[in-house]
Amino acid sequence: MASKPHSMILGTGAAIPGRVLTNHDLEKMVDTSDAWIRERTGIEERRLIEEGRFTSDLCTDAARMALSDAGLQAVDLDMIIVATISGDVGFPATACYVQKNIGAINAAAFDVSAACSGFLYGLSIADAFIGSAACRHVLVIGGETLSRMTDYSDRNTCVLFGDGAGAVVMTPSNGRAGLLGTMIGSDGRYADLLYMPGFGTKNPPSLESVKAGYQFIKMEGREVFKQAVTAMGEAATRILHQAGLSSDQVDLLIPHQANLRIIEATAKKLSIPMERVFINLAKYGNTSAASIPIALDEARRMGRLNQGQVAVMVAFGGGLTWASAAVRF
Ligand code: ACO
Repeated sequence: MASKPHSMILGTGAAIPGRVLTNHDLEKMVDTSDAWIRERTGIEERRLIEEGRFTSDLCTDAARMALSDAGLQAVDLDMIIVATISGDVGFPATACYVQKNIGAINAAAFDVSAACSGFLYGLSIADAFIGSAACRHVLVIGGETLSRMTDYSDRNTCVLFGDGAGAVVMTPSNGRAGLLGTMIGSDGRYADLLYMPGFGTKNPPSLESVKAGYQFIKMEGREVFKQAVTAMGEAATRILHQAGLSSDQVDLLIPHQANLRIIEATAKKLSIPMERVFINLAKYGNTSAASIPIALDEARRMGRLNQGQVAVMVAFGGGLTWASAAVRF
């Protein structure tokens, strides 16, 4: 039986930008086809942020929705964690801009950089702060504008990514509902399999670095795929064990939405039928840290996660990083 949870999810929200980029649009930009993208990834279209808007704007919209869902005001927040690899500026944290936008004057605000696993890293941090009674209300957001880091002449990456944000408000558990377990992990030996070489201090902005395309995501897709299948399967298995859950007790598996084949392999490893797996990859592509909180919010609003039901979330991303969490609603 799972131990008593420290923290619970009180509200969720999401922000999806309005511009749609379909596989057919991409056919006109690079040597690819709708059939190839669907068959290899499961993606049909992705959403891109509008001109003049930034990651913090998407995060702010998702945050306002999650606060309203939780029935809380921004001043009630003790902490804001934004998981992102596509923050507005080099520094400060995108979380500080969200804090300003919503008026969360009592919160500490910082970002977490763990690529696609970032939201679950944030959830794990929030759970620890709430568990130690250092915080009461924590806003955890996953938000990305990967379109601004994507090379739309590179067919290996440009078909995959999209923009968006999702948010949850965490609070102390009311008893039965809450996080039944979290786990996070990483292996820096694989850091260069999936990364953006600029514009940190290693490759500061210059004409040469722009010409070399250092401002874009670079990925060894095939190797990342292999690592993802193993890490997602192991992270999901470990969280079931840690939370004392059997596969039958999982009402909904919410995996990071990177590739349908990786999702299917993870579900198979856990012996969870696809009817109990939440998939919205076809509409949004891979939105990195935003993918799980967007899916979680959609699942709740569609009535696929009701009171007493258990969700398992599992992610994998650049770093390489992985993470999982089990939660009862
Ligand atoms: N359209 C048509 N052909 C393509 C495309 C495309 N968009 N992209 C690659 N190809 C070609 C390749 O050039 C290659 O051709 P070749 O055999 O002549 O060399 C062929 O298709 C097969 O390439 P693979 O890379 O082996 O294709 P694969 O089946 O592995 O699919 C994919 C590629 C979709 C990228 C897959 O490897 C994948 O999903 N990898 C994981 C990505 C991921 O999950 N990232 C996670 C985290 S993201 C983050 O943290 C921000």
